[in-house]
Amino acid sequence: MNDFQKELCQNLSKYCWDTIEPHMEHDDAEGKFRMEFFKGLGDYGVAGVTLPEEYGGAGLSYIDYCYVLEEISKVSVPYAVTVSVSSMVQSILNEYGSKSQKEKFLLPLTSGEEIGAFALSESHSGSDAAALKTTARKVEGGYLLNGTKMWITSGGIAKTYIVMARTGGEGAKGVSAFIVRDGDKGFSFGKAEKKMGWKTSPTRELIFENCFVADENLLLGEGKGFTVAMGGLDRGRVAIAAIGVGCAQRALDEAMKYSLSRQQFKQSIFDFQGLQFMLADMALEVESSRLLVHSAASSIDHSKPNSKLCSMAKLKATDTAMKVTTDAVQVLGGVGYTAEYPVERFMRDAKVLQIVEGTNQIQRVVIARHLKKEYEHHA
Ligand code: CAA
Repeated sequence: MNDFQKELCQNLSKYCWDTIEPHMEHDDAEGKFRMEFFKGLGDYGVAGVTLPEEYGGAGLSYIDYCYVLEEISKVSVPYAVTVSVSSMVQSILNEYGSKSQKEKFLLPLTSGEEIGAFALSESHSGSDAAALKTTARKVEGGYLLNGTKMWITSGGIAKTYIVMARTGGEGAKGVSAFIVRDGDKGFSFGKAEKKMGWKTSPTRELIFENCFVADENLLLGEGKGFTVAMGGLDRGRVAIAAIGVGCAQRALDEAMKYSLSRQQFKQSIFDFQGLQFMLADMALEVESSRLLVHSAASSIDHSKPNSKLCSMAKLKATDTAMKVTTDAVQVLGGVGYTAEYPVERFMRDAKVLQIVEGTNQIQRVVIARHLKKEYEHHA
């Protein structure tokens, strides 16, 4: 970490611990999202970390962004996810949007005034994203969207949605990406999901009933929607991985603190070698995940995302988050299972990191496909 990154993380960490942390236990129990916390993160300049300054972003690197997400997720995985999904929407607009689309939609997102959301999944098309059924029928001046999107992070609190819908035949080539705004006629919200974790981040169904989207809100062109979605997800997966590292780091911090202070059999429980080995393995997994995440982030900073590395980072860091948070609960024992300590919350928040933005089984599919291509090429 360089001096700039250290200062950035220290200031951000102070904001998160002073402002967000005191409310997390209560808000997790109530399922309450607070827009003022998100705006506060925006005031720190972290709602659009990697976006160019001309569009209100901080113009920082993807590695800087990973440190930022790590810091937020040490206090709240759900707020880090809200930032990361909104940032994925921004990176999609920046990469694939026209100049006028960028000028129109980016500023409120980079400032943290508004939140962005990404709508790909449907009830029958989760992992098989190219099988989506929402349609976009061409009419004069635009398209009419019909269908339902499921499990949409920030559904209902976001203002700008990137929505994938079918303009052509079956499969990936028939998919197009649209920019839809909360309040557009024919666009409404369905049920809010009740979840195991991520309780302060709303997850909602989106319903489109003859929702008119103007031509100017089509991204990149008809039939390019799957490329838009996959390109966005490459970046998004690294962000989810960075959140996994932050989540695991917090669990390790809590487990270390507790094991040093808790006395049993007239010694601290840390002094038992069984626990030392467990904690050493936890620290090893956190650090190796962080290195892989930075390697994937560096591929984004230096050229285009390396999809194989992005999937590896997501797979490794989120499996680590699940393992390390589970072990942290074990280290704390009985109290670890109660809401008196935060480790059970981090364990619940870790689980879905292995599922969102492509399950960890899908990450293996992506890795294996790249391996095949590389080895066939060499053969
Ligand atoms: N970048 C750019 N284009 C890409 C790409 C990438 N990383 N990956 C694939 N494409 C392109 C391909 O080049 C191909 O185009 P051509 O035919 O012109 O070459 C096209 O997309 C189709 O690719 P595939 O044949 O590989 O498509 P597939 O149907 O076999 O699916 C998959 C591939 C990797 C399994 C994909 O469906 C996938 O990633 N599934 C998981 C879905 C997912 O991640 N959902 C996340 C939901 S969003 C979410 O969770 C966010 C949130 O709210 C927290």
